[in-house]
Amino acid sequence: MQVVSISSLKGGVGKTSVTLGLASAALAAGIPTLVIDLDPHADATTGLGVKPSHQTDIGRLLKNARKADLAQNAAPSGWVGAAESGPSTSSGRKVLDVAVGSAYSGIYDRPDLSRRDLRRLSTVLSRVNGYSLVLIDCPPSLNGLTRMAWTASNRVLLVAEPSLFSVAGTERTMRAIDLFREEFAPDLKTAGVVANRVRPSSNEHNYRLGEMKTMFGDLLLSPTIVEQANWQQIQGAAHSVHQWPGESARQAASLFDDLLKNITDSGRMRSRALRRQPS
Ligand SMILES: Nc1ncnc2c1ncn2[C@@H]1O[C@H](COP(=O)(O)OP(=O)(O)O)[C@@H](O)[C@H]1O
Ligand SMILES: [Mg+2]
Repeated sequence: MQVVSISSLKGGVGKTSVTLGLASAALAAGIPTLVIDLDPHADATTGLGVKPSHQTDIGRLLKNARKADLAQNAAPSGWVGAAESGPSTSSGRKVLDVAVGSAYSGIYDRPDLSRRDLRRLSTVLSRVNGYSLVLIDCPPSLNGLTRMAWTASNRVLLVAEPSLFSVAGTERTMRAIDLFREEFAPDLKTAGVVANRVRPSSNEHNYRLGEMKTMFGDLLLSPTIVEQANWQQIQGAAHSVHQWPGESARQAASLFDDLLKNITDSGRMRSRALRRQPS
């Protein structure tokens, strides 16, 4: 089971959008996937079309980590029905579940979590089987929830827009991962940095992408995700981009197919140490 945190220090750069795009690609590829919605705003839960039901939310599961039964409380994404009835690139039952987000998880988004508290998500996940991929949508801070996610993860995927403050924020997040790895998670890898909302015709974006290439080297992932005019419409309809009609959605879906391959391919499981070698 590969556990990937989708993180950034900044809000609004596209963590939830990238989480949803990867979940959509995983569903299309028939990879049994669990999305953990760790952001108290619970946008991923909304976007994945989860209907509120009997499930206990992730915040309350974390509170009772030792006894919590995530498997019983994971809600199926509303995308699954449409994926099963539509054209398929894979056979068998489709699995895309969601550990439901809620404001309650905010009680852990403090800067001063104890080592024991940091392990709460790992404890909950240790009893979960049947998924090949776990995607954790993090809140826009490096407080307790993001650190709890990193403690439970094999890799961190950083999301950045090609803008001055976002690039600088990503560099700071990289340093925070280094420090965190030294102290708490020696095996944590950086999956890379994905540039989102890229406008290929923008000089400023091309300049910032060049800067990111210099700064992050091979950790700058390919492909970059372009700005998509109908993105809000797709998300507002709680739809999977793979199920949305039209050429632009098809192109976006194929970007996420490639991105998913690149971050799950073992060849990309490189540590930060590799990046530091002289090029
Ligand atoms: N590639 C994209 N093209 C167009 N709009 C996007 C793209 N990525 C994100 N957005 C929009 O930007 C806003 C913030 O994205 P979101 O994924 O919620 O960011 P975060 O989770 O980092 O706060 C949302 O309204 C989303 O629809
Ligand atoms: Mg978000």
